[in-house]
Amino acid sequence: MQDHGGADGAIREITEGHTRLLVPSGALDGEAPPRDTAFFNPRSVANRDVSTVAYAAHLDGFDGPPTMLEPLAGVGARGLRAANETSAIRHIHINDVNPKAVSLARGAALLNRLDAEASFSNLEACRFLSNYATRGRRGAIVDIDPFGSPAPFFDCAVRSLMHGGLLSCTATDLQVLNGLFDEACQNRYGGMPTRGTTYGNETAIRIVLGCLRAVAARLGVSISPIFVSSDMHYYRMYARIKVGHAGAAHEEVGYATHCDACGGRWLGPRAEQECSTCGSETRRAGPLWRGPLFDGEFVNRMVQKAPHVGHARDGALHAHLERAREESAVQGTGLFYTLDEMASRTGVSPPRMAHVLESLREAGYPASRTSLAPTGFRTDAPSDAARDAFRQAAVR
Ligand SMILES: C[S@@+](CC[C@H](N)C(=O)[O-])C[C@H]1O[C@@H](n2cnc3c(N)ncnc32)[C@H](O)[C@@H]1O
Ligand SMILES: [Zn+2]
Repeated sequence: MQDHGGADGAIREITEGHTRLLVPSGALDGEAPPRDTAFFNPRSVANRDVSTVAYAAHLDGFDGPPTMLEPLAGVGARGLRAANETSAIRHIHINDVNPKAVSLARGAALLNRLDAEASFSNLEACRFLSNYATRGRRGAIVDIDPFGSPAPFFDCAVRSLMHGGLLSCTATDLQVLNGLFDEACQNRYGGMPTRGTTYGNETAIRIVLGCLRAVAARLGVSISPIFVSSDMHYYRMYARIKVGHAGAAHEEVGYATHCDACGGRWLGPRAEQECSTCGSETRRAGPLWRGPLFDGEFVNRMVQKAPHVGHARDGALHAHLERAREESAVQGTGLFYTLDEMASRTGVSPPRMAHVLESLREAGYPASRTSLAPTGFRTDAPSDAARDAFRQAAVR
């Protein structure tokens, strides 16, 4: 680590993955990442690792100019890592409304000898993206990484992506998406969340994707989510864009229905008032995206790319991708359960995950771990069958 920018060492050079970055020293020393100088969060390294791998997977065999647009770049960590560590990106356009952040990104591009591949601007994000919303200038990747909700940027992001391009985005307004402020969620995303479920991160991600789908459909564009992830502080979504192919609403949009009485949960086209297992009154989240969250072939490519991309936590990244690969094969109407909630519902100590999955499969239901929760398992089984399989697993 090196000091730059004067005797007070206000700017430091660090290496993340294989890439040299210039960051405000307060970002490394302070409790919260600084917004006044330039924003950088060192704790988002795992998030940027996954992005770098996803971009490498996306550009492998991509049919079109491999350019990336980063409208909310901060000090450029995500885009510079992508350009430096994937070798597939031909040009990266880095933008932030904060001129200090852009100047640090420009300095870091020089340190990494990326100045020929990078260009810089200091505009409001949608003004920046509108420069690329014409034929021949659209990006292969657009990343939306704001403070809070990505929804205000969806329209201009979709317009600036080429056919087959990848939109990645972050949501950090977790309280809104998890049911603390229902009206704000409805206004921002056009969908209602449910509060206090163990799989709230999945419904939140689906609500964000439902909003993205609605914006894209209005422009005659379809979305195909290919990878999602969730952390304590953020949700990340990756979706492929197809221009001129609006998706079929009745297949893609729906509701998550939850029954507090029996623990049942499922995705469907309608908000169902009554639990199909026990007949109790339900709670509903949506409208939301009810289609797949992972593309198995894409996740396979991420698994192959991961060892070739510089990242800080190989073991954790590999384990995460393996789980996502497993669950990409089990994407029906099910939402995930957790071992702990099943243990408390059945009064049985949590058995080994492998035994639970075996019991579910023997009972005829697809089942896998989920990358969205450490003790989560995804299955289409109704709640009574899931409980039976859980009890069965406990006596194996
Ligand atoms: C969460 S930070 C980005 C972090 C960065 N992508 C990374 O991975 O390190 C959000 C950034 O968006 C910038 N920003 C906020 N609103 C903006 C807007 N409307 N247009 C352009 N930049 C904006 C902020 O200055 C800040 O640098
Ligand atoms: Zn029920």
